Amino acid sequence: MQLGVFLPIANNGWMISTNAPQFLPTFDLNKSIVQSAERFGFDFALSMIKLRGFGGQTRFWDFSLESLTLMAGLASVTERIELIGSVPVLAIPPAITARMATTIDSISHGRCGINIVSGWQKAEYDQMGLWPGASHYERRYAYCAEYVSILRELWTTGRSDFRGEFFEMNDCRMEPMPQASIPIVGAGQSDAGTAFAAECCDYNFCSTSGVNAPQSVAPKVAKLVAAAEAIGSPCKALVLTMVVAAATDAEAEARWQSYRDGADVDAMEFRETQSSLDPNKDVNATAARWRRSQAEHPNTGQGIMIGSYERVAGLLDELAEIEGIAGIMLSFDDFPNGMEAFGTEIQPRMKSRASIVGAA
Ligand SMILES: Cc1cc2nc3c(=O)[nH]c(=O)nc-3n(C[C@H](O)[C@H](O)[C@H](O)COP(=O)(O)O)c2cc1C
Repeated sequence: MQLGVFLPIANNGWMISTNAPQFLPTFDLNKSIVQSAERFGFDFALSMIKLRGFGGQTRFWDFSLESLTLMAGLASVTERIELIGSVPVLAIPPAITARMATTIDSISHGRCGINIVSGWQKAEYDQMGLWPGASHYERRYAYCAEYVSILRELWTTGRSDFRGEFFEMNDCRMEPMPQASIPIVGAGQSDAGTAFAAECCDYNFCSTSGVNAPQSVAPKVAKLVAAAEAIGSPCKALVLTMVVAAATDAEAEARWQSYRDGADVDAMEFRETQSSLDPNKDVNATAARWRRSQAEHPNTGQGIMIGSYERVAGLLDELAEIEGIAGIMLSFDDFPNGMEAFGTEIQPRMKSRASIVGAA
């Protein structure tokens, strides 16, 4: 089972609360997290791209670094961990992304991956005059599919003459080609997002939901596995979950309660307004999921494992045993302390990571 970390590229990570650690995203913070991850045997790190925050009292995600630039920097201060950067397909032409990824491949000696971000938040792109209009909600994965075709053509042949509905390449050249194959990652939760991932990606993220509910992700993983099997695709499921852990259950639960007490409702309201612009009524879509969970969960929608180190290790093992899961990506309420506690207290208690701990 692979293990990854969702890097804190934007302020305050993933907890939308005045009582959560308040921090700005810096290269130094991300460097220290990714180097700890590498020390604890993590397999990959992913940074998101976010171009417009949610405001509110905490100015949630109003401060955010750029993903591929960050990964290029991290590539030069790490040795083994795979680095997955996120690309806003509406803002960066595919031939430029192909070249940036090849540059990270060169800096990292073959450790680059690319997360394809279709764009669900109108405000991010509208502010730059790049929002294609409401039709994008319906057509965003068709756009992504063409985008990925061009990336793969350039990476494997150095050329593209792709002709599609959204892109036209004219004897486009891109050399050198990357030294290692660059995995493509999708992160859509809707049926359309799953279908896109099965067809075009090497991995798709499925998000857990609720509190201490590893099984919540099982239907989504099964849906992806079935979609991939139906077309003979190698696409595999990765799972995202947050960890709020402490020495005792009571301590961890008290921390969680304090985040709920301090929920930044204005930032959550802005996020809600943005997500509800998507008319997609699919119950698996992010917009619908957020509406269901936001009242009790002041985080960005992902499920949370809360409790003592022992309890969280057991919950993560239960997650790892779900059929079809290739890896788990973690976020933390408190990144520096959470990562250290994971490496020293949680991972050594995990059966699914016994080989890693043994090797260390
Ligand atoms: C692990 C993970 C990473 C994501 N990264 C980004 C990102 O970098 N930028 C972004 O705008 N959305 C990101 N998303 C959101 C998805 O890319 C997708 O746009 C969102 O789930 C809405 O699409 P859907 O309606 O198909 O679920 C991420 C989601 C997950 C679970």
